Order: sequence, then C-alpha cells, then structure tokens
Amino acid sequence: MLEIKDSVAVITGGASGIGLAVAQYWAQQGGKVVIGDIAEEALAAAKDRIGGDTATVVCDVTSEEDSARLADTAISAFGRINLVAPFAGIIMDGLMVVPDRDTGKVTKKMSLAQFQKVVDINLTGVFLTVRECTERMINNGCRGLICLVSSTGSLGTAGQINYSSTKAAVSVMPKVLTAEFFRRGVSDKIRCAAIAPGYCATPILEGMNQKALDNILQDVPIKRLIQPEEVASLVVELYRNEALAGEVFYVHGGLRLGSRG
Ligand SMILES: NC(=O)c1ccc[n+]([C@@H]2O[C@H](COP(=O)([O-])OP(=O)(O)OC[C@H]3O[C@@H](n4cnc5c(N)ncnc54)[C@H](O)[C@@H]3O)[C@@H](O)[C@H]2O)c1
Repeated sequence: MLEIKDSVAVITGGASGIGLAVAQYWAQQGGKVVIGDIAEEALAAAKDRIGGDTATVVCDVTSEEDSARLADTAISAFGRINLVAPFAGIIMDGLMVVPDRDTGKVTKKMSLAQFQKVVDINLTGVFLTVRECTERMINNGCRGLICLVSSTGSLGTAGQINYSSTKAAVSVMPKVLTAEFFRRGVSDKIRCAAIAPGYCATPILEGMNQKALDNILQDVPIKRLIQPEEVASLVVELYRNEALAGEVFYVHGGLRLGSRG
C-alpha cells in the first residue's frame, strides 16, 4: 500500500467541489498539494482552507503552456508528483436540436461554441494535464496514480451531448494509458484509473432548482446526493491500493442506471 504522507498531489479544479475535497483529504493525511484552477480568488481561499504544504497555480487547463507550468511547479516546489487528479470540468447543458412542440420544426440547436468549450476543458484539458504530469513523473522516477474523473453521465444523459461525450472519452483513458505504460515498462510504478461519480453536492448541483433535484433523487437508492468527501475517500483508496488499475470505479449511491428494479 502506498502512503499519503509526504506524497505530492497535482489537482486541477482544486478551488472547488470534488477537487477541493480531494486536496483537503490529501493534506489531512500529511500529503503535499499543488492545486491549479482558473478561478484566482477561489484558489486563494482554497489554499487557506487546505492549509499544510499547498502550492497554487492560476491556470487554464486548455493551455499547453499553463499545463506545463502546473506540472513544473510540483517538481520545483516538492520534487515529485505521486497523484494526478485532473478534475477541472464544466457543464453547458442543452439539447442538440430542439424541435418546436407545435410545428415539429427545429427552432434551436446547440452551438459549436457550446459543444467545443466543454470538449476543450473536459477532454483536451485532461489530456494536457495528464501528459505534462506523466512526463515529469517518469523523468523523475515517481511512483503513483493518474486518477481521472468520468461520470455516470458517460453512459449517456439527454441534454448533455457535449458533457457525456467527454466523460465517455475519459472513461477509456485508463485502459489506453495502462497499456501504454505496460508496453514501455513503467506500469509497475505509474497506474491509471478513473472514478465515475453520480450526483454530488458540489456548487454545480447546489444551484439546481428543487424540482430537478427531487427528480434526480428518485433514482438514488441512498436517497441523497454524494458528498465530495465520499468521492475523495475513493480517490485516496485508489491511490493507496496498487492492485486497483486500468478501470473505472463508480461512486453513485446505487444510482439506477439500467431498468428500474
Ligand atoms: N458534481 C457532480 O455531480 C459530478 C458528477 C460526476 C463527475 N463530476 C466531475 O467532477 C469534476 C469536478 O466537478 P465539481 O462538481 O467539483 O465542479 P466545480 O464546479 O465545483 O469545480 C470545478 C472547478 O474547475 C475549475 N475550472 C473550470 N474551467 C477551468 C479551466 N479552463 N482551467 C482550470 N480550472 C477550471 C472551476 O473554476 C472550478 O473551481 C468535473 O470534471 C465534473 O465533470 C462531477
């Protein structure tokens, strides 16, 4: 089992929600943290909440330069990277095409910008963070885990063709990277896995109206939202247990995904 104490986590989206919860959990167990986020003020507040050995980097995960700077900061501040958690993500929901209920003709459609922005942050951004951090992990002889965040939305949620597509793409990455690491002889040191949360109590969902929330909860057997700390606990377990690799691990409170029982 790997120890958290003195291990270094690089977390994007670390100023809020699940990323912040992972950073706090990691620091509480004696780990060092580098959090990257585009939200400058929230990032400074997060640093205060996390305490301990925490470095912050204001960065846009869609920028190659920013992603390299984030990974470099971990090496210059702490000398290594052990956990990579590229958790920055957004939703911009909408139907792909909206036929008018009276005329049956399409009156509105999802813009390219609405599709592309989600792809840029949730998919390209993940690729850049993971590529830059993995390069430095290998070159500095680090041991640890690339922990991606997919979603139950990866199975296909109406109104989320942009988001669901990115999360489905992220779901395949643990298989691809585990095979690549194996091929090049680094898979005993660097693993890749993904978590797929259901509906979590983070700022994204807390802003939802009560009716939509009640609808969602009808499909959740534990009858409540997942707490960010419950997701963070899974990330830490995946890190510690080296037998866990190459898979997607769900954390959704028993969410009914197929036929209703
Ligand atoms: N909350 C849920 O129910 C849920 C469920 C499944 C998966 N997820 C995934 O977990 C991850 C975290 O979600 P969350 O609920 O904590 O969201 P959140 O909105 O609380 O946090 C996301 C963070 O990402 C940052 N960010 C956005 N764009 C960025 C960019 N271009 N560069 C750098 N940082 C940027 C934001 O500033 C924010 O701090 C996301 O990838 C999300 O898709 C969330």
